[in-house]
Amino acid sequence: MVSNTRASILLIVSGGIAAYKALSLIRLLRANHIRVRCILTKGGAEFVTPLSLQTLSEETVYSDLFSLTQNHEIEHISLSRQADMIVIYPASANLLARMAQGFADDLASTVLLATPDHIRILVAPAMNVKMWEHPATQTNCELLKKRGILFADPETGAMACHEYGKGRLVSPETINQMICQKLFGHQPLNGKKALVTAGPTYEPIDPVRFLGNFSSGRQGYAIAECLRDYGAEVTLITGPTTIPHPTGMKIVPVTTAQEMLNACEAALPVDIAVMTAAVADWRVKTFSDQKIKKQNNHQPPTLELTPNPDILAWISQHPTLRPELVIGFAAETQNILEHAKAKLERKKCDWIIANNVSPNTKIMGGEENEVTLLSSSDSQHFHRSSKKDIAGLLTQQIVKFFSP
Ligand code: CTP
Repeated sequence: MVSNTRASILLIVSGGIAAYKALSLIRLLRANHIRVRCILTKGGAEFVTPLSLQTLSEETVYSDLFSLTQNHEIEHISLSRQADMIVIYPASANLLARMAQGFADDLASTVLLATPDHIRILVAPAMNVKMWEHPATQTNCELLKKRGILFADPETGAMACHEYGKGRLVSPETINQMICQKLFGHQPLNGKKALVTAGPTYEPIDPVRFLGNFSSGRQGYAIAECLRDYGAEVTLITGPTTIPHPTGMKIVPVTTAQEMLNACEAALPVDIAVMTAAVADWRVKTFSDQKIKKQNNHQPPTLELTPNPDILAWISQHPTLRPELVIGFAAETQNILEHAKAKLERKKCDWIIANNVSPNTKIMGGEENEVTLLSSSDSQHFHRSSKKDIAGLLTQQIVKFFSP
């Protein structure tokens, strides 16, 4: 299993009962393949431990200037320089005041003072309602906003101190969405989980031979990348390919159809499944442990085949974890639409992408595609263009499906 990061956040956790919510935020950011490095202030450490932050972020946690002395004298400079964004969650009244005044008396305030202008800082205050409404806090916030600091203003509600009013920290889900929006732009599929299968499967015959096909994985990879760019949390289950794995998603490499099925099962539940893989329909009934040798009479061996599981049909008819939208591909060489429609009905997916893979189209293994999207009631043709463009058009349809 390989994971990779799309962006890096420096998360400052300051004091307050809401500091525990930073743990959920780290989980959400990591699920979006965002690297999270944490600074825990002295006040923050009263409420959460460095160990919990470190366990969830899988990174060293920095807690004060002195922890940086080993061989990192200028680490406080590089900590902010290496981040795409700094997030303070929660931000205490005290930290806001020290930021406004330009204090540099602990690691968090020093890093903030050393942060270059182009790195965005997002602040989520949390405090008692009186503290929030106090003119000193309001003046500090105004000053910070004027300096370009972004704010996720606190919400109104019941507070830990048994008072009611404005001062409650915004939820981890809200701040996660704000961070993704700032980092990656419009994210209409944020919060959705997607599973994409891609590439061929190889079915071993003996230690040196296999049954396979010409699928390159390009169309599936392009769809996975597009879903990622629209904000979905993507798991890409890929058969053997020679193209580079995309970044910013969970990649599960597999070889056989059975392994692909197992990986799909492990990835559920998801909201969207796009099954682009060219799964081998059969495997040899008995795998030979030793290389099959030529016979003296030069007769080729007879291979007995047995059917592989149909992953698309399985996921479309899953009794409890069926994704809301299941999309299959139909690789055909004749009577394309007719066969694709029959597959849609037989496998019970929601949409099927009819794909003419006759050798003269140079689609299988190539850079371009031309497809027709079929549902039980509709059909839409996507003219010949790059597999990336086709992925974009399909993803727009997926976004429409999920738009109220
Ligand atoms: N598929 C699958 N598991 C299989 C075979 C196919 O999940 N064992 C999926 C593919 O990923 C694709 C769809 O089913 O989304 C159709 O695949 P295709 O190869 O076009 O059809 P088959 O079901 O294999 O039927 P045929 O070979 O007869 O065309």
